[in-house]
Amino acid sequence: MNAITTKTYILAIESSCDDTAAAVLLNDKVLSNVVANQEIHQQYGGVVPELASRAHQQNIVPVVSAALRKANIDKNELSAIAFTSGPGLLGSLLVGTSFATSFALGLDIPLIDINHMQAHILAHFIDEEGYDKPTFPFIALTISGGHTQIVRVDDYFKMTVLGETIDDAVGEAFDKTAKLMGLPYPGGPLIDKYAANGNPKAFPFTKPRVKELNFSFSGLKTQILYFLQNNSQKNPDFIKENLEDICASIQHTIINIIMDKLELAVKQTGINQIAIGGGVSANKGIRQALKDSEKQKGWKTYLPKFEYTTDNAAMIGITGYLKFNQEKLDNTGFVNNGVSAQSRLKI
Ligand code: KG4
Ligand code: ZN
Repeated sequence: MNAITTKTYILAIESSCDDTAAAVLLNDKVLSNVVANQEIHQQYGGVVPELASRAHQQNIVPVVSAALRKANIDKNELSAIAFTSGPGLLGSLLVGTSFATSFALGLDIPLIDINHMQAHILAHFIDEEGYDKPTFPFIALTISGGHTQIVRVDDYFKMTVLGETIDDAVGEAFDKTAKLMGLPYPGGPLIDKYAANGNPKAFPFTKPRVKELNFSFSGLKTQILYFLQNNSQKNPDFIKENLEDICASIQHTIINIIMDKLELAVKQTGINQIAIGGGVSANKGIRQALKDSEKQKGWKTYLPKFEYTTDNAAMIGITGYLKFNQEKLDNTGFVNNGVSAQSRLKI
């Protein structure tokens, strides 16, 4: 029987950072996609690894049960289990890894280890009405709280990192500058919200000079720190009175940095199909800049459905499905033993 026409049910588990997520896919269609966010970290202004792994322990059974229930399938119908093996926080990854390994062993079905960063990119291959799938080759921009990468994608599992951040990720740049303004964690969506009513040119910030397709955001953060300190000394209400303009200016600078690098990537590779993924791709300013580039630069851009941009298990499921088919076709078999979590896994 042709593998492509077979009904493949994949249970996917994601626990790399602070979201415990499970999804069930029937081939490339999402039947359920459940995410439990960990609110505990808000009071600390960032993710506390020890608390994250404890919360994963508490959430994983109810989240997986909910995913199976919503998909309306029994665990005995599952074809394979896919889970995030890295990169991420080791203690968090281990919860998903141990759970997935035990579950697959108990059901005697294949276990598929998934790279979280590949999954952010392959989320574009989920079959979803109204969303086109990119064709190879394309450039993927993955922007999240943990990563910032520009990747050349020649095939599902043939990816080359062209550039990445040498310090903070884009999401961290948003979250850390938001924190400087006294906004709660995660500050990225709040900067996005306030920026909508602000003047992006009110406060010009300088862009960092980083070679080739690499990024750096730590200098921008320091620049904003001094800018806020200096102005708050002169006027203690400076932030409050100018919040929307400050947010719009920060967002404008970050978008410019990203668009400059994408332009260089297009120039260097001759590829003008751009697919974005990762939590920061929910940013309205970035989405608009990419949409504008279609008319202004002739690019073709792919923006994922919102629920597949931030950390989720559906993207792990689609990657698992693609890997499942590939491994079946390659006849290489599966690794059911000795799969371990790797905090620094590379694409
Ligand atoms: O992909 P994700 O859920 O988790 C990681 O793998 O990091 O990304 C979370 C990051 C956070 O830094 C959050 O502030 C940022 O994505 N984020 C945003 C927006 N929504 C989420 N940043 C800017 N604008 C947004 N609308
Ligand atoms: Zn992520």
